[in-house]
Amino acid sequence: MKFWVLTLFPEMVENAVKTSITGRAMEKGIIEFEAVNIRDYTIERHGKVDDYPYGGGAGMLMQAQPIYDAYMSIVEKIGYEPRTVYLTPAAKVFTQKKAKEFALEENIVLLCGHYEGVDERVLEKIVTDYVSIGDYVLTGGELAAMVVIDAASRMVPGVLTNAASGQDESFSGNLLEYPQYTRPEEWMGEKVPAILLSGHHANVEKWRREKAIERTMERRPELLKVEDNEDN
Ligand code: ADE
Repeated sequence: MKFWVLTLFPEMVENAVKTSITGRAMEKGIIEFEAVNIRDYTIERHGKVDDYPYGGGAGMLMQAQPIYDAYMSIVEKIGYEPRTVYLTPAAKVFTQKKAKEFALEENIVLLCGHYEGVDERVLEKIVTDYVSIGDYVLTGGELAAMVVIDAASRMVPGVLTNAASGQDESFSGNLLEYPQYTRPEEWMGEKVPAILLSGHHANVEKWRREKAIERTMERRPELLKVEDNEDN
């Protein structure tokens, strides 16, 4: 699977993806990554990529032309119009379900906006999915793109070394993850729950499920209320 990122700050995303688990997956060739600098595609002088909004208002907008040409350079390389995600707070919030869906694509383009936004006309031409990573406003889409790449990558087979570790966790089955413990058995007077030392697999599973439900009720009750939470 290949992630393409359209951005004015390629190093920012590159450095994040090169690090840790996604970095190792790249070295192994399981995922690929290429940042395309939108500024390299402007036809205007001095690398200009933004201008004032028609109708007035604060700040600058990214212009359509450099974004479209940068996008078309990708289309020419891969030979088709790929799924293209625009990162924006004006969208549905990203979920584990979307991460899994994106992980099935052979190529995916992530468009990072900056300044006050992007000319709507280019979005209408190229964007297939609008994605927000939460109800707050970032200075640009790069951090959001990193979040999407990280979450989608770990759903690509082979990225996580433990085959089960992508399944039994928060947001699988609408439940938050149960509490976990490692050595030592006692730390600052606090003991690991005895059941986890019992070696009784079925009891351990039952305990974990109870704890997951308890934790979900306490921290995210809305996840339980939805009959068949389609976001998971
Ligand atoms: N760009 C700015 N804020 C954002 C957010 N919350 N999610 C995705 N992209 C963004």
